[in-house]
Amino acid sequence: MSASHVHADAFVFFGASGDLARKQIFPSLHAMVASGELDIPIVGVAASDWSLDDLRERASEAILARGGKEDDALKRLLELLRYVDGDYRDESTFTRLKDALGDAKHPAHYLAIPPSLFGTVIDELRRVGLHEGARVIVEKPFGRDLASALELDALVERAFPENSIFRIDHYLGKDEIMNLLYFRFANSIFEPVWNRDHVDHIEVTLAEDFGVQGRGAFYESAGALRDVVENHIFQIVALLAMEPPSFQGYDAVQQAKESVFRAMRPLTREDLVRGQFDGYKDEEGVALDSDVETFAAVRLYIDSWRWSGVPWLLRTGKRLTTTAGEVTIFFKRPPQALFDDAASDETSNYLRFRISPVSEIALGSRVKTPGQEFTGSQQEFVLHTESPLERAPYERLLAGAIEGDRALFTSRGSVEAAWRVVNDVLTDHNPALPYKPGTWGPKAADALAAPWGGWHAPAPDAVSSGPTADTSSATPTTTPTTRKETP
Ligand code: BG6
Repeated sequence: MSASHVHADAFVFFGASGDLARKQIFPSLHAMVASGELDIPIVGVAASDWSLDDLRERASEAILARGGKEDDALKRLLELLRYVDGDYRDESTFTRLKDALGDAKHPAHYLAIPPSLFGTVIDELRRVGLHEGARVIVEKPFGRDLASALELDALVERAFPENSIFRIDHYLGKDEIMNLLYFRFANSIFEPVWNRDHVDHIEVTLAEDFGVQGRGAFYESAGALRDVVENHIFQIVALLAMEPPSFQGYDAVQQAKESVFRAMRPLTREDLVRGQFDGYKDEEGVALDSDVETFAAVRLYIDSWRWSGVPWLLRTGKRLTTTAGEVTIFFKRPPQALFDDAASDETSNYLRFRISPVSEIALGSRVKTPGQEFTGSQQEFVLHTESPLERAPYERLLAGAIEGDRALFTSRGSVEAAWRVVNDVLTDHNPALPYKPGTWGPKAADALAAPWGGWHAPAPDAVSSGPTADTSSATPTTTPTTRKETP
């Protein structure tokens, strides 16, 4: 059995004093201890001049701040914690880490640190032999472009074989995203229409009404394309576009997804509209002349038998009208204009997946309005609606990594293929156009979607609101509130 398939017997996290640890790691560890699935030594590593008590204090604070309780699980977690303080460039830090790990044979090392430090940490782990039988967990974005991703992969693989590398994209740990795969392949009625003969276009919107939340310096090195499009949105596209995997297992799903990434046509500057919200340059850590995009709208094609000619309209941004994630598959209109309202601008059939802040799946279709005339209106049948999941994505992902289950992680091939799609437009692009906070981004983004009826704005309170044409780019909009009848 390979090391990655056994339960880890220690969890090490580098970056123990950082933001990711505070916001995600401690609350997730607490939940895992509470559910009884974590009872191994947990070693925090940081260069902060801390003691174990400082780490425990930080852990308690972080957990209480996220709504956790002072319960037995917190007590147990604090008992499991160990701490190693020291510079990652200092060999003795790793010798002390080795001591702290005692006789652990399969530690899971989580690199919750900037990618620029990955090389140093991995080389040191290897030097003291802490890579043997171990696994490593790394965060997206994996690199900054294709070249740096290749470099990073080569570097990580110096110490860890591919099946011991767990690449986190937290979207893959969300129930709503897992449901895309489940819904497609646990049902048979959609598969016959899931292709270019029946699908007109597909829209994905991941919108946020907040800004960069103090992460200006990070955002300057990323931008919306690297931060969200190339990973979170592409993962959604891959799950929607992939061929059925031949079995339920990591390899089959990865292979099917990888084929989608490879079939994505590399973006050109005409496929991309970049925007920047007014006020971004005043954020701490942001250059006064920054051209970094806080909004990206993309038109993507997948050159495969199934999807040839079908546009995928993708957009994401900060300080937009609302915070919502939605995927809509628009089907072609009926081939014959049989009824009096055939000229209606409303679409006829669509399948809508609301992925945040609530989870929802709805089917849009036209239904006759009572009366003498053969006219109707667009109605929605909500197939499923649910409040956000009980299990945070990080908790699910860390549990997977500790168990050695790679199902919710991405592969080297997928990451590299995804970078190939965006690599040219990372540098060869039009300037970021300004937009007012509270809008749907710059006007120019409308032109990209215009041939397919424009963008559709997700309603803030999704339940049974269908896709509504979004006419708002440069000006603040009212959020669509049109209610459709549901069964
Ligand atoms: C992160 C990005 O990966 O995903 C953030 O760095 C973004 O900029 C976040 O806000 C969105 O995640 P979620 O789960 O809140 O939709």
